[in-house]
Amino acid sequence: RTEPLVLGIETSCDETGIGIVRGTRLLSNTIASSMEEHARYGGVVPEVAARAHLDELVPAINAAVAEAGIRLDDLDAIAVTCGPGLSGALMVGVGAAKALALSLGKPIYAVNHLVGHVGADLLRTGANSHEEPLDYPTIALLVSGGHTSLLLVRDLTSDVELLGETIDDAAGEAFDKVARVLGMLYPGGPRIDAAALTGDATAIRFPRGLSKHKDMEKHRYDFSFSGLKTSVARWVEQREDAGEPVPVNDVAASFREAVVDTLLTKAVAACVDYDVPRLLLGGGVIANARLREVAIERTDAAGIALRIPPLSLCTDNGAMIAALGAQLIMAGHNPSAPDFGADSTLP
Ligand code: KG4
Ligand code: ZN
Repeated sequence: RTEPLVLGIETSCDETGIGIVRGTRLLSNTIASSMEEHARYGGVVPEVAARAHLDELVPAINAAVAEAGIRLDDLDAIAVTCGPGLSGALMVGVGAAKALALSLGKPIYAVNHLVGHVGADLLRTGANSHEEPLDYPTIALLVSGGHTSLLLVRDLTSDVELLGETIDDAAGEAFDKVARVLGMLYPGGPRIDAAALTGDATAIRFPRGLSKHKDMEKHRYDFSFSGLKTSVARWVEQREDAGEPVPVNDVAASFREAVVDTLLTKAVAACVDYDVPRLLLGGGVIANARLREVAIERTDAAGIALRIPPLSLCTDNGAMIAALGAQLIMAGHNPSAPDFGADSTLP
């Protein structure tokens, strides 16, 4: 059986991602971001994101098709993110996917954005073409500006369990908010990461959210970063009120350490509790240097196989959505009914 040729559309946040895959082979991964338009607001503005998708979608589809060297007629199916994400942004992608599927007479597969992040691991590209995809079950830790989730993936196309997620801010959002407290521009994650390079991570002991004994029963795999953010803001404020200089690099390093420690403590605990010696990372926060370092240390120590896809497949993209669509086809799943909608709170 030949591997399906699938075009994936991702518009759940500020990236307009179009990907084309044949089975598990990546043919193109085109991304247009409206990040710069959001920068002056200090965060993603939903309506700005939706309008940018409308501008970018057709050019991005044309670019992806040209890069892959295919014709739209050759496609076997369209895959599209139907949630979770920003409602208006999702609707633009779903509308475009339906229009394309209808005009080409091709089936359409509506997919879950978070499961798409796990699907990124399937793709063989230049850099990791020799590697085999991870075996299942696997634990997946997804950390971005919009989500912080811990998944138990028994089967990518049929059995994905949400073990826990953030109960307030996403990890990337916490980086962005703390960056603002420290007077850095948006997006703050890379800036905090850079400042932390020359900071002392043990200078200040910031709190690890939902890690106290009393929280662990109900929230063993959940995350909370808003208390940490407030604690950093208060610490900085006290220094300023006292007329003392703020050691920005030490604050950045200590904050980063608290986030990384919390994320990996819970991810490794899930691997141990479920006896699953595999951990997959995904989402834009994976770019964080300390997160990668500690992930390697802790998984090595616990005998857990660690998988980190290339960064271009970790941040939001259409290729991972196409890959998941292709996998659904190969696993024999039916296409979605034509009346599916966009669901911003899809579990
Ligand atoms: O997955 P992504 O590109 O987009 C969405 O969330 O939609 O993730 C972006 C998030 C931002 O919050 C950004 O500050 C954060 O990832 N980020 C980082 C780093 N690079 C990006 N956070 C920490 N350290 C980094 N090096
Ligand atoms: Zn994402």
